[in-house]
Amino acid sequence: QAQLSSCLQGGGGGPTQRLPGAIIIGVRKGGTRALLEMLNVHPDIRAAKSEVHFFNRDQNYQRGPSWYRAQMPESLPGQLTVEKTPGYFSSQVAPERARALNASLRLLLIVRDPVERLVSDYTQVLSNRRERGKGYPPLERLLIREGRVDPSYKAVQRSVYHLQLAAWLRCFPPGQIHVVDGDALIRDPFPELRRVEGFLSLAPAIAPSDFRFNHTKGFFCLESGGRHRCLDESKGRPHPPVRPAVRQRLCRHFREHNRRFFEMVGRSFDWC
Ligand code: A3P
Repeated sequence: QAQLSSCLQGGGGGPTQRLPGAIIIGVRKGGTRALLEMLNVHPDIRAAKSEVHFFNRDQNYQRGPSWYRAQMPESLPGQLTVEKTPGYFSSQVAPERARALNASLRLLLIVRDPVERLVSDYTQVLSNRRERGKGYPPLERLLIREGRVDPSYKAVQRSVYHLQLAAWLRCFPPGQIHVVDGDALIRDPFPELRRVEGFLSLAPAIAPSDFRFNHTKGFFCLESGGRHRCLDESKGRPHPPVRPAVRQRLCRHFREHNRRFFEMVGRSFDWC
């Protein structure tokens, strides 16, 4: 009788909440939401709805793995649970904690031209502050200090990918980290998603017909269950203009950092 009721509760082969087998660790404003929503089209993927912040926030981490599991959607055996929390990538403590929980966890990192990412990051903070009726300085005032790009500005730091990735590579082998090209995902999502399916050892099930370019939104949107669904208005916001001279200075600032990142991942990207 006890065995029967545990089966009815989903303990056997039924739906139950499971810890993630893969996580999207970042990068903030790299296209993490688009990547998760697009992967969720796959029948063997179950995606957590909101960002969980388990490994990077002490108050969540202290609640333990059972709390983490309770944040996950139900899944069936053979389905892979995935969550995304871009704050993991820049966290000092997340890599070690993630390894301690599951050393065979697969990690997805979606990157984007660091200058675009920085402007997107600034735009997000600006927009959040405006929503709360607060002001925010123009980008240049935050970015340039004593005539130079300020390396201590958080949005600059988050675009220095190699330093953050190095911390993850101290805890996970390179084969467990897959880098997604966020600029390519914007232009044409399907090829990037096919590569992710391969990395996650999933049978290819995502099709080009699962996405359609929406000219009003200016991005690909999802075509699922007879519905056309775009990401919300916080994704794909117009960016404030950045003077070409400032853009150039940023490109110069990131050049060497980018080179080191390319070396680390054994591949280069078409960034400025
Ligand atoms: P912008 O809003 O600056 O354009 P994240 O989900 O990590 O916060 O990333 C947000 C970024 O995802 C957006 O930045 C946008 O450029 C990018 N993105 C990629 N594919 C998208 C899509 N299909 N719809 C909307 N935004 C997308």
